[in-house]
Amino acid sequence: MIFNNNSIMRRPCIAANWKMNKTVPEAMDFIYEFLPSVADVKDADIVVAPPFTALFAAAERLVGTNVMLSAQNLYYEEKGAFTGEISAPMLVDVGCDFVIIGHSERRQYFGDTDVIVNKKVKAALNNGLRVIFCMGETLKEREAGQTYEVLQRQLLEGLREVEARKVIVAYEPVWAIGTGKTATPEQAQEAHQYIRSKLRESGRDEADSVRILYGGSVTPENVDSLMACPDVDGALVGGASLKPGSFERIVKFTRGHQ
Ligand code: 13P
Repeated sequence: MIFNNNSIMRRPCIAANWKMNKTVPEAMDFIYEFLPSVADVKDADIVVAPPFTALFAAAERLVGTNVMLSAQNLYYEEKGAFTGEISAPMLVDVGCDFVIIGHSERRQYFGDTDVIVNKKVKAALNNGLRVIFCMGETLKEREAGQTYEVLQRQLLEGLREVEARKVIVAYEPVWAIGTGKTATPEQAQEAHQYIRSKLRESGRDEADSVRILYGGSVTPENVDSLMACPDVDGALVGGASLKPGSFERIVKFTRGHQ
């Protein structure tokens, strides 16, 4: 358990975002190797987000374990003529607990605007899914001194009319994703603290209990120093979550800094 400066307990959450990686057999190989290695981890939420095609098989194996299942995206309509899309009820049906929404790759390559992200968040919550809500500035925005402006817009627009206690926020600076260029613990803490203060300012009394994960080149080597930051409550891990041993080490980050 993590005790922050305000003595609010926030349970760490470590999530694997596999992006467009792993066939069904590859996903299952990972899960079979990974599950026993983390079976004794009781003090953190562990989440894996395989691609859509592996969700069903993964869900069947994860029942009754301490690892939860997430999808990486959804479409906000419930059903109908939306070729190629997957709805929130379909994710519930297949056994998902979570869905990742607003990932920068969705925003960058697939046109997910703040308005669309907000609709997706609402669709997920209305169907009983939990949400990992991603946000973060690009390098260009950071260099132009617009980081806080961007974070504020993404947060307030993306979570418009949404109860913050129902979401996990993931701060993922775009310049740190898949680049090997991690935010320093100071940069991460500063952004996380800012996000929490904005949640508070926007009238969310629950701001202190909202978990804020850091994402962007998290590795077994840097996870401990990131998790030592008082406002970093977990990690959303891409590349380093693809191998069971590496993700296990991240899940088993060194406790007790707080
Ligand atoms: P990397 O860990 O590969 O940088 O990816 C981070 C990410 O985008 C997780 O959602």
